Amino acid sequence: MECFAGKVAFITGAATGIGRQTAINFAAAGANVALVDTAVHVAEETAHAVERAGAKAIVLRADVTRSADVTHAVTQTVKNLGRLDYAFNNAGIAPRGRPAAELPEEEWDQTIAVNLKGVWLCVKHECAYMRDHGGGAIVNTASIMGVVGGPGLAAYSASKAGVIGLTRAVALDYANQGIRVNAVCPGGIAHTGITDRPENARDMEQLMQATPMGRLGKPADIAGTVMWLCSDGAAFVTGQSITVDGGFTVW
Ligand code: NAI
Repeated sequence: MECFAGKVAFITGAATGIGRQTAINFAAAGANVALVDTAVHVAEETAHAVERAGAKAIVLRADVTRSADVTHAVTQTVKNLGRLDYAFNNAGIAPRGRPAAELPEEEWDQTIAVNLKGVWLCVKHECAYMRDHGGGAIVNTASIMGVVGGPGLAAYSASKAGVIGLTRAVALDYANQGIRVNAVCPGGIAHTGITDRPENARDMEQLMQATPMGRLGKPADIAGTVMWLCSDGAAFVTGQSITVDGGFTVW
């Protein structure tokens, strides 16, 4: 694995699931990590796991829908860890699906606020720092549901398709300033805060049946892709949305 020693990664939604695993992988590769989440008590446990992997961790409470929280988190990362090389903008919510006519406006607003505006606010503040400090690499979490549709997922699918568009546009803004911006589109990933909810068990079973590889993904499957996108191996890759779904979208 490429060595990220001396580097710093900023990860949102780091308390559980995909974000947690990615934080541990960055730590195992030598990077210090800022764990950004609303669930700070849970993120403290992730911090212990990062420290056990041999790196420094700080936990920062931030609601990614709030500009002031995001600015503070980026500032504190640089203040406490000294720099900012990589960002994984991964915090997200997936409210229970329902047909568009039954979708409450508040649920639409909240889904777009966390999954799309939240990513934009992070990207905005990360790029402002990276632009002035030698560049960096950013990975945003979209979803297969931003690539194909899902019944009952109007708000979620729109938010994730938005992340894919945002990623392309921002990649072009900074392509010649040393900042690479990509997205990862996970398929069904088991054992995360979102997918372990009992009401999602049937959907996850169906997703597994529809996945050519015959299994759900693991948080480590996504973490590996994020690490590669941040590495020098992906030095000529920007504006891309990489689907990691065991073949789900190639049927
Ligand atoms: P998770 O629930 O374990 O992780 C989401 C994290 O985001 C949690 O730690 C939560 O506290 C945090 N969060 C939620 N709202 C926040 C806010 N406003 N500000 C800061 N933090 C906030 O779930 P998972 O599955 O690890 O999700 C991570 C990302 O992966 C999400 O963006 C999700 O949409 C995406 N995804 C997950 C898939 C799956 O099958 N698990 C499939 C496709 C995409």
